[in-house]
Amino acid sequence: MKCISAAALSKEYGDTRAVDRIDLNVEPGQSFGFLGANGAGKSTTIKMLTTLIRPTSGSLNILGVDALRDPLRVRRRIGVVLQQPSYEPTLSVERSMTKYGMMWGVPGSESRSRAERLMRDFGLADLRRKRNEDLSIGQRRRVQVAREFMHDMDLLFLDEPTVGLDPAARRELLDYLKEKATSGLTIFYTTHILSEADYLCDNIAIIQKGRILASDTPAALKKRLGRQKTITLRTNADDHAVSAALAGIPDCVVQTGMGASVTIETAKPEHILMEVLGRLRKNGIKMREISAEAATLEDIFLETIRDASGSETG
Ligand SMILES: Nc1ncnc2c1ncn2[C@@H]1O[C@H](COP(=O)(O)OP(=O)(O)O)[C@@H](O)[C@H]1O
Ligand SMILES: [Mg+2]
Repeated sequence: MKCISAAALSKEYGDTRAVDRIDLNVEPGQSFGFLGANGAGKSTTIKMLTTLIRPTSGSLNILGVDALRDPLRVRRRIGVVLQQPSYEPTLSVERSMTKYGMMWGVPGSESRSRAERLMRDFGLADLRRKRNEDLSIGQRRRVQVAREFMHDMDLLFLDEPTVGLDPAARRELLDYLKEKATSGLTIFYTTHILSEADYLCDNIAIIQKGRILASDTPAALKKRLGRQKTITLRTNADDHAVSAALAGIPDCVVQTGMGASVTIETAKPEHILMEVLGRLRKNGIKMREISAEAATLEDIFLETIRDASGSETG
């Protein structure tokens, strides 16, 4: 059984097609990253998957339940951390936690011990008596994520949960989620930050303008789209001499004009490197430094988006 199985899921707001016939398949125990820029359709998708809004068309099965027919049965088994948190300004951190426990029908003593553990895990213990309105955005966000763990769930949705968190808190949250994923929780996670998806997720789908452009493991995405390598070298010669020496090599793009350093982009790094070294030697140019980098997920993301917008205009 799949945890999430969506087929041709769409949402229209008037003339805007916020989500356009997307298919999603998430296996139990997976951390699934849903990656896209602002306005790509991430929140709309999460709201459909969590039964908060109804799709315009398509089918949706969550944890074996037809989510369009039986949304309440779905809601009981999932957790949701929305992008726009609803919060009660005067509630203390501790009360936010136990109130959530009560809402989910967690017995009082269990609720108190869970709240203790979670406040400790999320670095909220010292803030327990503070009211929501007196917390920073990052602290409020931590309460919002922590309280979701007051109840047991099979599937957790988080919509850009790290917004407003400082780097340390961000890493702690990701590590906490990672640990939960290891113990069997399935996670659907949206972000516009690639390194987060790369760090946390087993599978990533890239969404742009409501459409899924690519979907695979981070490693496969890198392999599939990231053949390109960038070779950077520093020499003892000036730009002019280097460009002349490296002119006309096929299958690569050479960039000079940045002082002593030259970058070469190519999908055939080994072959190109041999050619470059040969030509530099022939022209009496000495190499000071050389490095090569594979495309990062960031590059792939940008490249994917660029390709898609390119094909749209064509
Ligand atoms: N309630 C709404 N009414 C009209 N348009 C909306 C509404 N919610 C979202 N949109 C539009 O749908 C598109 C996708 O938005 P959203 O799902 O919030 O993207 P993301 O979460 O990736 O930033 C955007 O063009 C946005 O303006
Ligand atoms: Mg959003």
